[in-house]
Amino acid sequence: MNVSRLRPRLPSPLVPVEDERFGRHGVRLLLKRDDLIHPDLPGNKWRKLALNLEAAAGRPVLTFGGAYSHHLSATAAAGRLLGFPTIGVVRGDELAGRPLNPSLARCAADGMRLVFVDRATYRAKDEPEVLARLLREAPPEAYVVPEGGSNALAVRGCVELGRELMGAADVVAVACGTGGTLAGLAAGLGPGQRALGVPVLKGGFLGAAVTALQAAALGGRAGDWSLDERFHGGGYARVSPALDAFAQDFEERHGLAVERLYVAKMLHGLLTLTEEGAFPPGTRLAAVITGSGDGSNVRTVTAEGDRRGARSGGQSAASSR
Ligand SMILES: Cc1ncc(COP(=O)(O)O)c(C=O)c1O
Repeated sequence: MNVSRLRPRLPSPLVPVEDERFGRHGVRLLLKRDDLIHPDLPGNKWRKLALNLEAAAGRPVLTFGGAYSHHLSATAAAGRLLGFPTIGVVRGDELAGRPLNPSLARCAADGMRLVFVDRATYRAKDEPEVLARLLREAPPEAYVVPEGGSNALAVRGCVELGRELMGAADVVAVACGTGGTLAGLAAGLGPGQRALGVPVLKGGFLGAAVTALQAAALGGRAGDWSLDERFHGGGYARVSPALDAFAQDFEERHGLAVERLYVAKMLHGLLTLTEEGAFPPGTRLAAVITGSGDGSNVRTVTAEGDRRGARSGGQSAASSR
């Protein structure tokens, strides 16, 4: 399948921005606008899916995600645009009897068949018997893409992101969910450049995940990368009012819609690190804008854990992996 028919905007633009909060520490901030690659497959969605869709070669694609998964929406859109069937296995069988949230409604409108499974089954989806049961929902020739789209082909797709940045920055930061984007990015950077991953989930599992993805895709550890695990803000999909305010302020300063669950946490982490003096004066710091901020997956969680579905379209269990 020729995915370049979708005419991605590659290489994505690298844009310097004036921000005195970084400037006063001698740090030059650059935004790597991967969110502009494609309106329906923005950011790392394009980079992780492109080689997988070529490998699927028009067969039906079965993949997995939560109720607000960007990855599910991107896969469904690709199916519509390129003309192949898609099946989305969605976490949470309680969602089956409810009206679809805007994200899942979009998937369905793009032709994706949605299969809702209980959380225990979803957690066990990589076990061969569970996967075999789920595959009965799909045609026998279906091509399976894991949750978040991160597999060896996805990592290889993300190597290109690093190559596009070769020589253009000293440190390149990216928000991490499954770690596939960081795994590829780090491998594509040149000598003297390093990648910094900002996990948006709690748990400390990501270092091992990135190492395993690099081993599967590239045969071993590649590039200079590290993680800073301090900026998940309480866990996945937790967006505090302070983080929301930070993101709104960034939007006003730089005219960019900031995706809250990943990109806002990474940008906030970069500002904190800059204020801590983590980057020597003269550092060129590139922040990868891995998704677009349309606000559709935001909920605000206060410090006390009081949840307000700020822009979540009515369902409380926001999840965009
Ligand atoms: C906007 C955005 N940024 C970053 C990530 C993290 O990517 P990865 O799962 O490859 O770590 C995701 C999830 O795919 C995402 O949707």
